[in-house]
Parts: sequence; structure tokens; C-alpha cells
Amino acid sequence: MEQIQNSLLFEVENLSLAYKTPHGGTVSVVNEVSFGLRSGEILGISGESGAGKSSLATACLGLMPGTLLRVTGDLKLGGISLVHSRSKGRSSPRPGRHISLVPQGISSGLNPTCKVRSVALDVLRSHFPGIKKKQASDLIRDRFSNLGLDPKCVLDCYPCELSGGMGQRVAIAMSTLMNPKLTIADEPTSAVDVVTAKLVIQLYKRLIKDGIVEGVILVSHDLTFLSQIATKMAIMYAGEIVELGATEQVLIDPVHPYTRILTDAYVLENKNDTICQATSFAPQDLPKRDQTKGCPFAARCPDVQADCPTTQQITREVGGRLLRCAYAK
Ligand SMILES: Nc1ncnc2c1ncn2[C@@H]1O[C@H](COP(=O)(O)OP(=O)(O)OP(=O)(O)O)[C@@H](O)[C@H]1O
Ligand code: SF4
Ligand SMILES: [Mg+2]
Repeated sequence: MEQIQNSLLFEVENLSLAYKTPHGGTVSVVNEVSFGLRSGEILGISGESGAGKSSLATACLGLMPGTLLRVTGDLKLGGISLVHSRSKGRSSPRPGRHISLVPQGISSGLNPTCKVRSVALDVLRSHFPGIKKKQASDLIRDRFSNLGLDPKCVLDCYPCELSGGMGQRVAIAMSTLMNPKLTIADEPTSAVDVVTAKLVIQLYKRLIKDGIVEGVILVSHDLTFLSQIATKMAIMYAGEIVELGATEQVLIDPVHPYTRILTDAYVLENKNDTICQATSFAPQDLPKRDQTKGCPFAARCPDVQADCPTTQQITREVGGRLLRCAYAK
């Protein structure tokens, strides 16, 4: 797994996901999603609640926990499939070791009965069973320290003794202990103040700059946060990536009708100084893929055409960005 056989660090190819229902059926949550990430890139994924962002982030780890089901598609790290190479042994990418995920709401989800040091030791031992305690302790102390977390203040705390922001940063530091190629964080700033959000931004930039990780995927509702850190952006609606491109393209000059409405909620003055304002786009239940044949945004789209509700959209490239709309230019 050490060699990167492909210029893309991470690839998602035509991925569709569904949840199994208690009655034996399935409900589609992610539909025909494809994207690639190169070494050094930070991909931001945004979109409204229920769009399928967390389901996609979880699947990118290479695991299908609980009732989540991969319907079609492949995921590759360094050109090696996470889906088809499981049985081929130690060279296959391993979830947690080569790709890490900080799930949504993790700061309140750390084991409350174990001190941070003990949780971090467990993380390391689970991937490196032979590691000596001193070696593991030194690695944890150095990593926390390098990422701006004072080991003396943090490692002997129980998770409930940490503030939400500190808990989030601790979870991010832990997710890097194995030096994963790719790290993913789901809503890393949803429960933190503006100052901590800036620390999270610095932390991820540091991880890339110091070569601790090669690529980052950040899921967030917060376009202001993403505009300051992401090198490329994917906007999701009803399980589909409707627009994907360089951050400046997608956030400053969006062309998909949904992205235009979403970004209208924000005044993105430039990538270092952004102001958020209220949106006039009323939240609604997102249509389920299984309930619509055509464009899932048709019922809300200001540019809707006669065939949109019935015609399945395909992803096409326009001016260096990917669009899932036949009419956006
Ligand atoms: N375990 C589950 N079983 C069945 N359906 C689920 C499950 N988890 C999520 N869903 C459904 O899948 C859809 C996508 O959910 P997901 O959590 O991926 O969205 P999201 O974009 O991350 O939303 P949010 O922004 O609120 O975190 C939603 O309709 C949700 O209700
Ligand atoms: S395909 Fe039609 S309904 Fe869908 S976003 Fe494009 S114009 Fe709007
Ligand atoms: Mg989510």
C-alpha cells in the first residue's frame, strides 16, 4: 500500500448507496457519485441536510456499517480498490489505517470512561499490535504537541472534561496517529466557535503541509469554513453531486441552479474574508431518488424546463467543472 500507482490519490467511481429498510427493501441515498482527489488536495463537500453527505463520507472510509449498502461503484486509494481487494492481504488499503474518518458529532461520542491517552493508545495498538507502550506514548505526545494540543493538558483528561472544540481537535489528532493517506471529517466545525474553527483550518493545512496526510475530505454545511480551506468543492443535492470544481469556481461563480441558490445564502467576498447571511431558500424534505425519475431538483428549480421532471440527468464536464444538469452553462 506504500506505493501510489496512480496520479490520483483517491477515486470514487459511480458510487450508489442505499439503506436497507426493516421490511427487506432499500432506500437510495447516494446516486452515481464520482470524484477524484490528488495528493495535496482538500475536497469540501456541502449541501443541505439529508443530501447524503455523511453516508458518502462513511462509505469513503471503505466500510458499510449497519444498514448501509453499496449498490454500485468502486473506491480506490492509490489505484487499489477498497471494495475488490479486501481478500488480497496486507497490501490492501485498510479503513482506519490508510483512510481515517472523524464522524459527525464525534466530540460527544468519545468513550467517556477512558482518558484521552488510553483511547489514543487503543487506536494505535489496534493497528500496530506489536507496538511498545513507550513508543506509542511518545508518538501520541509528539503528534498532539505538533498539532498545537498541549499533551499535559489533554492526555490525562476524560473526554467529558474537554470543551466541544477541544474534543473535536483531539478527535482530529487521533485520526492522524496512523499517518493515513487520506483523512475525512464530517462536520468538524458544526459545534465549535469561530476561533476554534480557525484552529481546525490551521490544523488541516498543517497536516497536508507536514506530509502527515496526503489528502483531506471535509463535509460541512458551512461554506464560509470550506471557502477558507478547500481546494475543490462538491455540492450535493438529494444524493447526487450536482456541481464539482475548483473552490473559486463553485463558490464564487456557481452555475448549477442549486449551487447558485445555496451560495446566495453566503456573501463570499474572497477566500480569506467571508461573511454569512441568512438564506431565503426555505428548507424542505429532499425528494428520495426512488420517488423521482428525472432531476431531483426539478420541483424547486428556478430554471426548470419541460423535460426536467422526467429526464434522468447525467454528469457532464463544462469548463473544467462537473455539472449534473443539462441546461447549466
Ligand atoms: N441508518 C440509516 N437508515 C436509514 N436511512 C438513513 C440512515 N442514516 C441516514 N439515513 C437517511 O439517508 C439520507 C441521507 O442522510 P445523511 O445523514 O447521509 O445526510 P447528510 O447530508 O449527512 O445530512 P446532515 O447534513 O443533516 O448531516 C437521509 O434521508 C437520512 O434520513
Ligand atoms: S436539470 Fe432542469 S430542474 Fe434540474 S437543475 Fe437543471 S434546469 Fe433545474
Ligand atoms: Mg451528515
